Amino acid sequence: MNVPVLPAENLRAALAGLLDGLPPKQAAQAVERLIANYRGATPTDAPILRDRADVVAYAAYRMPATFEAVRSALAAFAAAVPDWVPGGHVDVGGGTGAGSWAVTATWDGVRPVTVLDWAEPALALGREIAAANPALRDARWQRSRIGSALTLDDTDLVTVSYVLNELSEPDRAALVDAAARAAGAVVIVEAGTPDGYARVIDARDRLIGAGFHIAAPCPHSAACPIVPGTDWCHFSARVSRSSLHRQVKGGSLAYEDEKFSYVAATRFRPAPAASRIVRKPQIRKGQVLLDLCEADELLRRTTVTKRHGDLYRAARDADWGDAWPPAD
Ligand SMILES: C[S@@+](CC[C@H](N)C(=O)[O-])C[C@H]1O[C@@H](n2cnc3c(N)ncnc32)[C@H](O)[C@@H]1O
Repeated sequence: MNVPVLPAENLRAALAGLLDGLPPKQAAQAVERLIANYRGATPTDAPILRDRADVVAYAAYRMPATFEAVRSALAAFAAAVPDWVPGGHVDVGGGTGAGSWAVTATWDGVRPVTVLDWAEPALALGREIAAANPALRDARWQRSRIGSALTLDDTDLVTVSYVLNELSEPDRAALVDAAARAAGAVVIVEAGTPDGYARVIDARDRLIGAGFHIAAPCPHSAACPIVPGTDWCHFSARVSRSSLHRQVKGGSLAYEDEKFSYVAATRFRPAPAASRIVRKPQIRKGQVLLDLCEADELLRRTTVTKRHGDLYRAARDADWGDAWPPAD
């Protein structure tokens, strides 16, 4: 597959440009206000992203991480549907457009894209940033409220990233049902917390109930083998830290790891991984320990040793979230 790299670089440059001219102190204050708002009760009756300062803070501070998480989920999804390319994309609760950027970073080409959100300032900024991405030049940025009245136009792919958390339980269900009615494929990404995982599992169950098959991360469409409350399935995406991040969070690390949970499901039959690495591999002398979620619906630890030759070398290179064994 020809994976485009430009969108990630263009996004970084466009987001850095947003902060030009904004005094660093003001940018840091906007981020702190945003973090405080997100700590408050959600769902809310009105958008949290209320004005340009809010959305600039969101875009500069959170969008690089949500972009990388969605991109990582889409990479695993794309590997499970190698001959499929979305002909159209709707990003629900798309905000400043992280999901739509991630789709263009996964599949080459230009397709009809619609970004829906109830926060007009987020859509306006999304449109502005998207000028840096030729594949999003004709994207439509439309105001839309997620709720029981939501209907979506038919499309190949619906993405919903970091949105379920902001919705009431009935609105979450309405959104997943609307996505299942409209799309050939649905990808949902949430924070990689126990609650985020629980929301992903509810959505996964609804999608299976609507006749969908799980393409990633799970190797099967049966029930998740994790006993509720004992653990949560999540993954990690590396994100370069901007100067704003360092300013707000302190420290000098050049990157941070965004934890996320996700599910990608299709109406058509995908080719999911034989098994998936669900924890960071542990590399010991002469052996690698891999925690796998397997096609027979079990979680299992496997030890790959030097005696396994090529497989051992592959295990040493393997990452949390990868399919196992690797495709040649
Ligand atoms: C955390 S942001 C995620 C934005 C983007 N999807 C991303 O991954 O960066 C949540 C988005 O959901 C939108 N949202 C929350 N509740 C909504 C609702 N009821 N109707 C429409 N949009 C909503 C917010 O305005 C915001 O843009």
